[in-house]
Amino acid sequence: MLIINESRELNSFLSLFELTGLKVAFVPTMGALHQGHIALIRKANQSGGLVVCSIFINPTQFNKTEDFEKYPVQAESDIDLLKANGCDVVFLPKKEEIYPNGTDYDLPFDPGYLDDIMEGKFRPGHFKGVAQVVYRLLELVQPHELVMGEKDFQQVAVIRKMIADMELGVELVTCRTVREKDGLAMSSRNLLLKADYREKATVIYQSMVECRENLKSMKASQAKKMAIEKIESAGLKPEYFELVDPFTLLSISDEQTKGPVQACVAAWAGNVRLIDNMPVRH
Ligand code: PAF
Repeated sequence: MLIINESRELNSFLSLFELTGLKVAFVPTMGALHQGHIALIRKANQSGGLVVCSIFINPTQFNKTEDFEKYPVQAESDIDLLKANGCDVVFLPKKEEIYPNGTDYDLPFDPGYLDDIMEGKFRPGHFKGVAQVVYRLLELVQPHELVMGEKDFQQVAVIRKMIADMELGVELVTCRTVREKDGLAMSSRNLLLKADYREKATVIYQSMVECRENLKSMKASQAKKMAIEKIESAGLKPEYFELVDPFTLLSISDEQTKGPVQACVAAWAGNVRLIDNMPVRH
């Protein structure tokens, strides 16, 4: 596995690789890798070409400095894990490589209403930061495929919109959320959970499973209310629990009794903010 720090070096390697005529599949990450990321690497490997993974903790997508500062870093074990799981190139850029002209947002892309709902509402500026870094990484890696996890459901929707609006011509491939045995979605932030909250955090998954059952006989607003109460009674602080159309991400009304529904949730487990989602009606 090649470890590359500079975009110039990445560019010269990719120009050589291009001669093979094979595809490049790209997995952007912020490190602190877990089995969820490994599933993305495996998916990327299915393209049969080169698998490039980036590790870059992007400062522009954190709306709170302390969140950026406490983001887990474990570069060495990340590299070992990537090496053992079929990654060909790991790109570890410095901030100057990604933002040579500073971090001001200058992309001709607007996430639109996706910036005002759920994650967008509670993390102002987050999606513009994600769009900014993913755009820049795509510019550097020029992949055929971009592989992302469905755990960040709204992030995938924003990037899908960016690819369409800016006609980026890269194929977006998504991967199902990987869960711990008790249902907790794998996330780098789980490393920050204190033992008691790690145990309690499983209620997020349970609330969605229960909601899936409740939706069979209840109005959406009632099922949502019960899910919020369940999360609260376990000692977590829900920020939102929304039942949305999986394509538009707009909330469904009580009158919409047919069609697919995705539950999307964000909750605080102590001082750690967790998000998750799941289809609750097909
Ligand atoms: O999902 C993430 O880890 C990040 O938002 C991403 C896509 C790597 C951009 O920094």
